[in-house]
Amino acid sequence: MSVNPETFKAVMGQWPSGVTVITTEDAEGFGGMTASSFSSVSLNPPLISICVARYLRMHDRIREAGRFAVNILSKDSQEHGMRFAGMLPGVEDRFAGVTTRTASTGCPVLTDTLGWIDCRLWASYDGGDHSIFVGEVLAAGIDDTAVPLLYHSRSWGQFADVLAEQATVLDAADDGDALVIPDAFGQPQAPAPVDTLVARVREALDSTPAPSLLLLDDRPSAADPVQLRQALQAIAGVVGRTPVGLRPGAGPMALANVLVALKSGVHHLSAASDTDHYVAMPDLVDMLQRMQVGILPAAALA
Ligand SMILES: Cc1cc2nc3c(=O)[nH]c(=O)nc-3n(C[C@H](O)[C@H](O)[C@H](O)COP(=O)(O)O)c2cc1C
Repeated sequence: MSVNPETFKAVMGQWPSGVTVITTEDAEGFGGMTASSFSSVSLNPPLISICVARYLRMHDRIREAGRFAVNILSKDSQEHGMRFAGMLPGVEDRFAGVTTRTASTGCPVLTDTLGWIDCRLWASYDGGDHSIFVGEVLAAGIDDTAVPLLYHSRSWGQFADVLAEQATVLDAADDGDALVIPDAFGQPQAPAPVDTLVARVREALDSTPAPSLLLLDDRPSAADPVQLRQALQAIAGVVGRTPVGLRPGAGPMALANVLVALKSGVHHLSAASDTDHYVAMPDLVDMLQRMQVGILPAAALA
């Protein structure tokens, strides 16, 4: 006796996944579909798999073209997820207005994704009303943005931000070894674009590889919470294992910025004696205590 199909669908809907767009290229041009059945298969040789419904045109196109690319969507690309699943009414050409490039096989690689994988079709297996396509990875790359689009129970989503459980609060004497990015967020009247900060961080890390801390200094209190969040997400892909700290400026958004930082992977906060321009140490400590974030001694940085 087999499981009831509705039960099966409902149970599978409980399984959360990322979202990809699978693309291929043939005499008809580009083809694309949304898929979440993507999985890593083998390291040596590098193989991945996708499962594609037999009734889809993409099924035969991939099999005949013998190649496909997997584009891992970021949380900002829900529109792409819907577009390539045929969920946007009126969209006939799924690639209209979508920027792509090619890598190894000629399949379109979407820009602004988390990562992409370009494959030669290695094998195809019977998977009931789907086929299991195994791809040999010929080329792959990642972009800087590090937050994936998720799919669960027919809803699109993203990871909830988890508040740091512990943080260090440094004063100027503790962060002498830190690599400081001054005016990290520009000026209040002229906020710095995220790309500018990413470029500055890259440059700083090129000249001082693996510092004990990369400290974003917001003396002019230019950061607003949304900008700060985007900036922290964007530099996450650049800093590698280097811890990131924030020296929050003393503007009206200061404590909101501290909260955003603590929810965006920042575990080091820095105060300065110049409390006209920076959040004061007692205010940082008080805030952390009220939020029940454990305060680590500054030595924990070493
Ligand atoms: C989040 C999500 C994940 C999907 N994953 C798959 C998948 O792994 N395999 C598949 O065959 N279809 C999957 N689909 C459905 C296809 O994207 C959809 O049937 C296809 O794009 C429709 O193409 P058509 O309009 O050309 O028939 C998924 C759809 C969504 C919204």
